[in-house]
Amino acid sequence: MSAAHDRHAAPHAVPVIAIDGPTASGKGTIAQRVASRLGFHYLDSGALYRLTAFAALRAGVMLEDPAGVAAVAAALPVAFPDGRIELAGKDVGDAIRTEPISQGASIVAAHPAVRDALLGRQRAFRRPPGLVCDGRDMGSVVFPDAVLKVFLTASAETRAQRRYKQLIEKGLPANLPAILQELRMRDARDSGRAVAPLQAGAPEAVLDSEGLTIETVVGTVLDRYGSAVRDQASGRSAGAAGSTLQG
Ligand code: DC
Repeated sequence: MSAAHDRHAAPHAVPVIAIDGPTASGKGTIAQRVASRLGFHYLDSGALYRLTAFAALRAGVMLEDPAGVAAVAAALPVAFPDGRIELAGKDVGDAIRTEPISQGASIVAAHPAVRDALLGRQRAFRRPPGLVCDGRDMGSVVFPDAVLKVFLTASAETRAQRRYKQLIEKGLPANLPAILQELRMRDARDSGRAVAPLQAGAPEAVLDSEGLTIETVVGTVLDRYGSAVRDQASGRSAGAAGSTLQG
């Protein structure tokens, strides 16, 4: 029986902070900064779904073919040297951020066989002294015994604005209404799927980043983590700690 299902099990020796949320909610930025402040490892689980879609398209596998895509996911020749994202030794960090790959990742992520194929790979990131991970099901499926679970969110309009600004800053073409429409499509697919759908979990896990600076959000996550660790040490039930931050 896993620690997640055994109330009496000792907490896992390696703490996990799970940050879930919808697309463009700032999870990646926040999770990376929290990881670096704590000296923890970092897992961008969405990158694994993006890499799977990218590798499947390259191999000519239909994204709607669960068995075919799951085989690709199981054999992904991926490495993350110094935070870079490499597939078969080639840096694909930018190539997996395009809009077609974003939509493709959302399609392959709806296949249970693909999620199963990526589960062990994600759990292998849990190494001392700790892990901060971001995605859609970090707290619900991959690390249900995470010491802290955060659901980071903001309105669709704000998230679209942020994505638009990012693209413009990179000198890439950007169309705000199209971004908003694509973001809503992905939100609907990621929340509506049958397996491991995006969900907020406990109300106290929600952190609405509307109108907050990155540093404020990082500080809030660190405060919640401190409370969760103290709760755990004093034997109270852990999970999402701290009060909901108002935007
Ligand atoms: O976080 P992201 O935008 O890079 O994720 C890309 C897609 O992968 C997203 O549409 C949903 C999916 N995903 C998922 O289903 N579960 C995760 N833990 C992470 C991402």
